[in-house]
Amino acid sequence: VYENEVKELLSRMTVEEKLGQLQQLTWTGDTGPGGGQTEEVERAARAGLLGSVLNLHGAAHTNTLQRMAVEESRLGIPLVFGLDVIHGFWTTFPIPLAQASAFDPEVVVRDAEVSAKEARSNGIRWTFSPMMDVTHEPRWGRIAESCGEDPYLNAVLAVAKTRGYQGDDLAADDRVAACAKHFVAYGGAEGGRDYNTVDVSEQRLRNHYLPPFKAAVDAGVATVMAAFNTVSGVPAHGNPHTLTGILKEEWGFDGVVVSDYTGVEELIAHGYAADGADAARLALTAGLDMEMVSTRIAGHGEQLLADGLITEERLDDAVARVLALKFALGLFDHPYTDESAAIDEPTPEARAAARDTGARSMVLLKNDGGVLPLDATSSGTIAVVGPFADHTDLHGTWAGPGCRRFPSAGLLDAVRAAAPDATVTHAGADAEAAAEAARAADVTVLAVGEEPELSGEAAVRADIALPEGQAELIAAVAATGKPFVVVLLNGRPLTIGDWVDGVPALLEAWHPGIEAGRAIADVLFGAVAPGGKLPVSFPRAVGQIPVYYNRESTGRPHDPRSDEKYVSKYLDLADGPQFVFGHGLSYTTFTTGEPVLGQPSVGVGELGDGQRIDVRVAVTNTGERTGDEVVQLYVHDPVASIAQPVRRLRGFERVTLAPGESRELTFTLGADDLGFWTNDQSGRYVIEPGAIDVYAGTSSRAEARATLTVTR
Ligand code: IFM
Repeated sequence: VYENEVKELLSRMTVEEKLGQLQQLTWTGDTGPGGGQTEEVERAARAGLLGSVLNLHGAAHTNTLQRMAVEESRLGIPLVFGLDVIHGFWTTFPIPLAQASAFDPEVVVRDAEVSAKEARSNGIRWTFSPMMDVTHEPRWGRIAESCGEDPYLNAVLAVAKTRGYQGDDLAADDRVAACAKHFVAYGGAEGGRDYNTVDVSEQRLRNHYLPPFKAAVDAGVATVMAAFNTVSGVPAHGNPHTLTGILKEEWGFDGVVVSDYTGVEELIAHGYAADGADAARLALTAGLDMEMVSTRIAGHGEQLLADGLITEERLDDAVARVLALKFALGLFDHPYTDESAAIDEPTPEARAAARDTGARSMVLLKNDGGVLPLDATSSGTIAVVGPFADHTDLHGTWAGPGCRRFPSAGLLDAVRAAAPDATVTHAGADAEAAAEAARAADVTVLAVGEEPELSGEAAVRADIALPEGQAELIAAVAATGKPFVVVLLNGRPLTIGDWVDGVPALLEAWHPGIEAGRAIADVLFGAVAPGGKLPVSFPRAVGQIPVYYNRESTGRPHDPRSDEKYVSKYLDLADGPQFVFGHGLSYTTFTTGEPVLGQPSVGVGELGDGQRIDVRVAVTNTGERTGDEVVQLYVHDPVASIAQPVRRLRGFERVTLAPGESRELTFTLGADDLGFWTNDQSGRYVIEPGAIDVYAGTSSRAEARATLTVTR
């Protein structure tokens, strides 16, 4: 696509102009080290030596700069403006980890569509989203931006988000180019420390970290961002195996690979490049196309070319990719943004979408004794207490510019609105005041959690318990003996083992965004039935990390029913996580039937090469209220040439059922769902003959099983 246009333009460019197209500079220093580069940006734009600008938005602002590039530079090549629109531009949706909890690709699409429209009308053509880093690391602050610990869930949502941002036509005035990031294995940082080492086998890389990227590339994602970490000793920014071997050659990715912020220059600090020129050579040769913020490729490219250290072919290929992106975005025909059409605040429809997404993203972790739902017709007293009771910054990390202009709806006001006849009292973080309010109330809503700045980039915690004083606050409220519910507002799984047993009801709300309070109240009062599920395990203690459902079995697995000493376990901690992947309750109850394979309905089926098999699972609402359930399908290969995860998610569907209603869901499995990548560097996917167990249920602990046979 655009081959002729690109070729023609390329033939008229000097080497300096070509290198300029590979450069992105930042307007502000908001998202990385160092300051803004405003003067350099203007100078380079006028000289035709700049490809892209980061961290500038607004139709008028971007148009001013665009005019410099289009009207003053020799060739008039337009700039592409990029921004991290991660979960909203003006309208902040829940953080991505929360959205993953909805187990519903439609909610992700809605965020992406609203975000694309708002951002595009403000001059942005390129978002650095979706983030699709599979991770087992709750200490890592960027878990908030990911979709959790499962490759399949991450892949499904990466595709949904990419489609939501890009639509069918990148040039449409409500779409932006997406960016699959961070390539690759960033979520595996040792100890959860940001930017840290990742040593990963080829099979783990391909089975675990790569699937969401492959899915996004197959869905047409326009760009990919390199990761800050090393991948088995080789920094991702200078890694020919991942950037060229896998991404461009094996998968045929023909879009732009952009660096992360100063990622090219950081090859020096990694001890991989000797100096700036070497960093430029290594990055470009490995397959990187555009450099963000640092200026090594543009600065040294000409000399490297003259010295034969980079090839003209690789340089032209990188430039062609950038130009093709600009053509696809329609920038050559329409470089400017219509200032009169700029969206400058969240519309009521966008707010409604954010509110609904917020509510659908919440996970009811516990509800003993039916404390929830609260009664909206109550004329009693409801206390709303805790540090987040009246908090209006619940946007979460990496929120867009909207978080500075539009506060989140607070919980206290939302409870008042939801229960108009009730007396609603309030106390903050003071334990005594909260306990007093709880004592005087019929029921208490206690909102605790993490401030948004405790998660996100470079926001790593060694201790992931509730911040200081909050467990004591819970204990003080619990000591009143009155009913209460804890609402968690956080950007990562927390260790809650020291207080969870004393809490009758626990709602995981994450950071729900602009409509936070109202979305929480919708769930607390049952206007929306909670139906979210955990996309990540909640550890019992930090010492247990990593703890995740799709682990491999050991040779000495622990059986909790046995007291055998020589097994894989902790002496001082119960087995498994506090809450497992896929866990989440509702205000009603559900049963799921056995998975039924293919036709006829027997417990054992056969699956040959290229065939697909249906798996039917019945689900019934056995309670008294309408509610949502997420039916989950897992597979396990009990005997394989590479030890397999004990479970792998291969399907899910969220359904709403009335009391007594049943539905039969149909999933399909192909042989390609059941195989795995080997350790072969050149990429070998195998489907081995034999039995595969298929589990269906409502969490990763699903026990209903059928067995199919892969024949060859
Ligand atoms: O897109 C981000 C990336 O995820 C982390 N470093 C900064 C980039 C641009 O802001």
